[in-house]
Amino acid sequence: MAKKIHYISGLVISIFIGLHLCNHFIGILGAEAHIAFMDSLRLIYRNVVFETILLFAISIQVISGLKLFLSKRKAANGFYGKLQIWTGLYLAFFLTIHIGAVLTGRCILNLDTNFYFGVAGLNTFPLNLFFVPYYGFAIISFFGHVASIHSYKMKKECFGFTVKQQSRFILAIGIIVAIITLYGLTNGFSGVEIPEEYHIIIGK
Ligand code: HEM
Repeated sequence: MAKKIHYISGLVISIFIGLHLCNHFIGILGAEAHIAFMDSLRLIYRNVVFETILLFAISIQVISGLKLFLSKRKAANGFYGKLQIWTGLYLAFFLTIHIGAVLTGRCILNLDTNFYFGVAGLNTFPLNLFFVPYYGFAIISFFGHVASIHSYKMKKECFGFTVKQQSRFILAIGIIVAIITLYGLTNGFSGVEIPEEYHIIIGK
């Protein structure tokens, strides 16, 4: 039962995550392009009905995911079996902290949780020592989780590539997307000037 629920809520969340990661990838074109793209996406996901469904699906995903982790942890075998379990655990941790931070920023600190909110920690030393791996592993874990599911759901070769090669390809794309996204969100690793209203979240 937990597995079926986890699969269905996972599909709902994946649509949002796909668009959300495209949004951050666009950070490579600069803050304005990132904010403009987020403004158009918000018309959909900030709609009260969609956002309620999204946040409800995430709660279901985290709870069912932790249940699956506890029941499957010992039986998980092979590279993709283990990858699925551990990326799932990291995503449960990340999503809980990430949603908590975004809702605190928005509802308690009354901040616009836009580009600058997302990148403040990434561009402040020593907070970036936490935020670079925190966001980097989140992106890689999402692709890693998908690669693991693909490795046992997919039965056919595609363009002459075996299922194993396809899964490896998905994982490799995740690593590349994570590096390019972090490059964009840090202004080519040279730093982004954080506006004063966001200094409260970086302790300045
Ligand atoms: C570079 C990495 C990431 C950064 C900088 C980032 C930043 C942000 C920001 C600034 C928001 C607020 C959006 C808004 O106000 O419209 C947000 C929301 C959100 N992010 Fe991320 N995010 C990242 C990666 C991820 C990943 C990997 C996931 C999922 C696995 C994720 C899931 C979410 C969710 C579910 C929301 C809440 C949307 C809502 O409440 O309507 N994020 N993120």
